[in-house]
Amino acid sequence: MCTEHFPMAELLTLTRAARLVGVARGVLQRRVREGTLASFEGMVRADDLVRAFPGTQLEDNAEMARVERIKERAFGRRVYERSLPDKEVLAARLGELARELAQARASAARSEALLHELGKRLEGNPLGTWLSHELEAGMASGEDEHEILAQDGVMRVMTPHVKVVPGGQEFFVEGADTVLEAALHAGLAMAYGCSIGTCGECKARVVAGSLKKVRHHDFRLTEAEKLQGCALLCCHTALTDLVIEANVARGAAEIPPQSITAHVRKMDPLSEDVILLEVLTPRTSRLRFLAGQSAIVELGGVKATWPIASCPCEERRIQFHVRRIAGNRFSDYVFHRLRIGEAVALEGPVGEFVLRDEEPRPLVFVAWGWEGFAPVKSVIEHALAQDSAESIDLVWIVASASEHYYSKLCRAWADAMDNFRFTPVVARELPDLGDLSGKDIYVAGDSAQVEATRARLADHAVPAERMVAWVSR
Ligand code: FES
Repeated sequence: MCTEHFPMAELLTLTRAARLVGVARGVLQRRVREGTLASFEGMVRADDLVRAFPGTQLEDNAEMARVERIKERAFGRRVYERSLPDKEVLAARLGELARELAQARASAARSEALLHELGKRLEGNPLGTWLSHELEAGMASGEDEHEILAQDGVMRVMTPHVKVVPGGQEFFVEGADTVLEAALHAGLAMAYGCSIGTCGECKARVVAGSLKKVRHHDFRLTEAEKLQGCALLCCHTALTDLVIEANVARGAAEIPPQSITAHVRKMDPLSEDVILLEVLTPRTSRLRFLAGQSAIVELGGVKATWPIASCPCEERRIQFHVRRIAGNRFSDYVFHRLRIGEAVALEGPVGEFVLRDEEPRPLVFVAWGWEGFAPVKSVIEHALAQDSAESIDLVWIVASASEHYYSKLCRAWADAMDNFRFTPVVARELPDLGDLSGKDIYVAGDSAQVEATRARLADHAVPAERMVAWVSR
């Protein structure tokens, strides 16, 4: 364990450091694992970061702007649209930062005076010579380091960082979001219920940092809870970077079964034979699920289990891809009778095709046919929202080219992100998947397709536990 101590101001969380140099968090985690970037309890020093990424252009926030453009292009929707924080919140965050700066200045002045005195007392001594040399070197170096710390300061005001314990999940609070909204936008399966301050389900303990109340709540915390630092995440935003103790579901078994009524928001054709069905859940009763899970959907008196094609980061908007299937009552109803605004009953979630909650690895997705794409899309969007995957390979295998009904989206992902590769395949057999060592493989298709993939992986000595499967029938 490292016992060296550094002032907090010089340390950056891995998530923020990744944003500053414009790479996925998984890339920094790999550098830490490889020993080419030092980490101190999950944080990195600004000067180490500059040394590890010497080519990064920090002027004019070029990399930050690039990352934002990538996300906006890749998602093309409101998930990453920015709005400024509320005026009062912004003023309060600046106040917090100013207080921190004043303390840091006072502490720096004390340290400087001490070092000066020490230098005088060590004059003529080799230790004194070393000290003055180190001080001069420290003064001369670090333009990039100062720039990165300045940008970190701006980000702390605009997008405070939140770390959840004990799970270790991280996210940023963007725009006017509450902490709960920010967590949901980042795709975290937080415990919550009403999202308007009445149920108390989103209660969490603030371990470090400060919150600001932005919404009245009827739910009353006990005096003991207040003393422990508990707060409702749906009614507060972050004033500073935060560490919070909160419940985040880590697996499908931790999500309770739910039944809600949503309404059809849109029906867009994705091809001649596939419709994107989007339903909107009520503001006060949303469906909690993990990316890649399915829901039991009932409309027009017909019930069917359907994979959710969107990511939980879309919050109230839940999407399904419905294929035209002759003689299938659910499909017939969607294609011929369903109307905007119609009520849709949702139950669930069901299924375990979810992103592993482990150290991030390179991810490979194999989607078979039209059916395999929706659950894969949900998990990919979640991985992108988390920004944790070192690299993503998507192989979409169809029998005829018309089944690539969303290849435009896949190409947009590949164009926008350096670490994303898309391989459309028109064939009936599994193509060569390349080197799979050290990768997690997510496969979605019918049972024969999934088994064929499993057998191929076994031939290549890929451990069975590295494969996660979704089977349509
Ligand atoms: S989610 Fe119900 S009080 Fe926050």
